[in-house]
Amino acid sequence: MRTIAIINLKGGVAKTTSSINIAYILTTRGHRVLLVDNDKQGDCSRGLNRRTSDGDGIDRIMTDRHPDMEHLIHKTDYEGLDIITANLGLLTANMEVTMDRVRPQQNRLKKALQQVSDQYDFCVVDNAPDINISVINALTAANDVLIPVEVDDNTLEGMNELLDQIQEVKEELNPDLQNVRCFVSKYQKGNQA
Ligand SMILES: Nc1ncnc2c1ncn2[C@@H]1O[C@H](COP(=O)(O)OP(=O)(O)OP(=O)(O)O)[C@@H](O)[C@H]1O
Ligand SMILES: [Mg+2]
Repeated sequence: MRTIAIINLKGGVAKTTSSINIAYILTTRGHRVLLVDNDKQGDCSRGLNRRTSDGDGIDRIMTDRHPDMEHLIHKTDYEGLDIITANLGLLTANMEVTMDRVRPQQNRLKKALQQVSDQYDFCVVDNAPDINISVINALTAANDVLIPVEVDDNTLEGMNELLDQIQEVKEELNPDLQNVRCFVSKYQKGNQA
């Protein structure tokens, strides 16, 4: 299984839209895809009609020593596309994680995904506009990082901080992180920016 993390510190640059579309397009090419909603806003889950306010999802992957992946993975309405959902439970889960001084904090998603790596060809991880412990977990699990950028006056805002963080995770935690690429999102013909 190849894991693709969609990340940008900036909000509203189409991380979620791109995550859902990339995941869906991969299924149309015959791949089995697991989409991970790694953002407490739960927009990915909402986009695929799977959001609940109190259901278990990525929060349990962050907190449980042995997360029950069968319980946490849901089918979507699209053949070959499954999802792990998110809701505000991720906020308290992350507080718990960052106070845990015993178990490593950064590799929880990676370890959970290893459980199902033979069931999927791709895992696509949608992230919050942040560098929090969830995003660090996504970077630690990823083979590829895709950064959607909206071309406007602030396109590069936060980019150096993000690239520094990616480099640090690659050096310290994830030698399997191979590709980091940007792509232009929300492009409109005639946009002069
Ligand atoms: N190609 C596009 N053209 C025009 N609007 C788009 C396009 N892609 C996404 N949008 C719109 O941009 C808004 C933000 O998209 P989206 O929620 O995917 O961004 P995000 O980066 O995930 O945001 P957040 O940082 O809050 O998680 C949404 O209203 C979405 O419908
Ligand atoms: Mg989003």
